[in-house]
Amino acid sequence: MKILTAEFIESTIEPDRFRGERLPEVAIVGRSNVGKSSLINSLLNRKGLAKVSRTPGKTRTVNFFRVVTTDPRLKTFYLVDLPGYGYAEVDKATHARWRPMIERYLGARPALRGIVMLVDARGATDHDAMMSAWLRDLGGPTVIIVTKADKVSRGERRGKLEEIRRTLGLPDAAPLIPYSSASREGETELWQALKSLITHTDHGFS
Ligand code: GTP
Ligand code: MG
Repeated sequence: MKILTAEFIESTIEPDRFRGERLPEVAIVGRSNVGKSSLINSLLNRKGLAKVSRTPGKTRTVNFFRVVTTDPRLKTFYLVDLPGYGYAEVDKATHARWRPMIERYLGARPALRGIVMLVDARGATDHDAMMSAWLRDLGGPTVIIVTKADKVSRGERRGKLEEIRRTLGLPDAAPLIPYSSASREGETELWQALKSLITHTDHGFS
């Protein structure tokens, strides 16, 4: 499969007003600084497409990226970069805007096929546990990506994955996909996950 184009289309605080040609879309959620924007850039092989920063709270709006592929099942879809949660350093006003903005997004997306939640390989936080519980309540398909996998040694990995499952309240066999924007580990598995989210029809978000 080839990516023909990957373009930034829109950045908005009113995501419910963005129509997106009713193309299927998948949203990326996760703690501030977990690597959402980096994952978009590495997966699409486009440096600088989504803005990345060492400082948490870089993405503060909902950002829509349109991806055109040669895959006959995937075809054209949107990846949506959502602002991160859970950083004390992000000021209160920003935090107060976060939940309504995410709710506005999730409440008005007939084409939303699934959510990709990112968790840092070094460990999940209480905020991640809350997000995970919220996603379970929403009831739509969710895939969990354990990112920055390059930061954890092979030997530590199994234990870390178990710990993450425990923190998030997931069953023992719940699939977690290790990924690294730095080493590209997990790229194939993530594309597989996106394909299955996008091609199934019973999405159950709205
Ligand atoms: P917000 O926009 O603030 O919510 O953050 P984000 O989740 O979009 O994170 P971003 O992609 O901006 O990355 C945050 C920092 O983590 C940057 O310094 C990245 O270079 C780094 N980073 C992201 N992914 C990886 C990874 O897989 N491995 C390593 N080692 N660093 C990463
Ligand atoms: Mg970001």
